[in-house]
Amino acid sequence: MIGLIVAYTKNRVIGNKGQIPWRIKGEQRRFKELTTGNVVIMGRRSYDEIGRPLPNRFTIVVSKTAHYEAENCVTVPSLTEAIEYAQKNRPGENIYLSGGAGIYKEGLPLADKLFITEIDMEIEGDTLFPEFDKSKYTRVVDEEVDGEIPYKYVTYIKKAPQKPRKKPNTEEY
Ligand SMILES: NC(=O)c1ccc[n+]([C@@H]2O[C@H](COP(=O)([O-])OP(=O)(O)OC[C@H]3O[C@@H](n4cnc5c(N)ncnc54)[C@H](OP(=O)(O)O)[C@@H]3O)[C@@H](O)[C@H]2O)c1
Repeated sequence: MIGLIVAYTKNRVIGNKGQIPWRIKGEQRRFKELTTGNVVIMGRRSYDEIGRPLPNRFTIVVSKTAHYEAENCVTVPSLTEAIEYAQKNRPGENIYLSGGAGIYKEGLPLADKLFITEIDMEIEGDTLFPEFDKSKYTRVVDEEVDGEIPYKYVTYIKKAPQKPRKKPNTEEY
């Protein structure tokens, strides 16, 4: 399974000045639950923000300029190579495209499911999640969390492509 995992606000902000511009205690719980034991693929700037591989999962950094190697962490120059690396070297593990904007844009057509945390506020930011065609997905609200800043854990499941309609067999008429 290739999943995409993101938290964005009502105005689609995912980041500002290299950081996530909100702090909501507990909001990253689903990220941890889903990605633990699996593979996360992230762009170089997102990795720089965290500064080290996340524990208990395999991190693939996409960068043409930097080269991070550590236990459970490699760097490759493109998203395609990151996915190929994961499929070859981490068989049976789910792949989570974890940002930022370039990885999301290129990865959206490749992802079977989008795990989105919809943050119920607007905020200023310089990095946005790309627009996508929501009609191609079934939207399931998994959990709604109240609080000062409410949020929802939502899954968008890609619909199977429509088969072209067969011409009617006129002999049946
Ligand atoms: N809210 C969320 O869920 C979430 C998740 C992740 C990140 N963020 C936020 O998003 C911001 C960072 O995102 P960003 O878009 O600025 O940077 P980014 O995607 O994390 O990193 C950009 C760099 O990654 C490499 N890269 C990214 N996409 C690539 C692609 N398709 N092919 C090849 N290389 C690629 C390039 O590295 P080189 O220049 O080294 O070649 C590029 O300069 C931060 O503010 C972070 O906090 C938010």
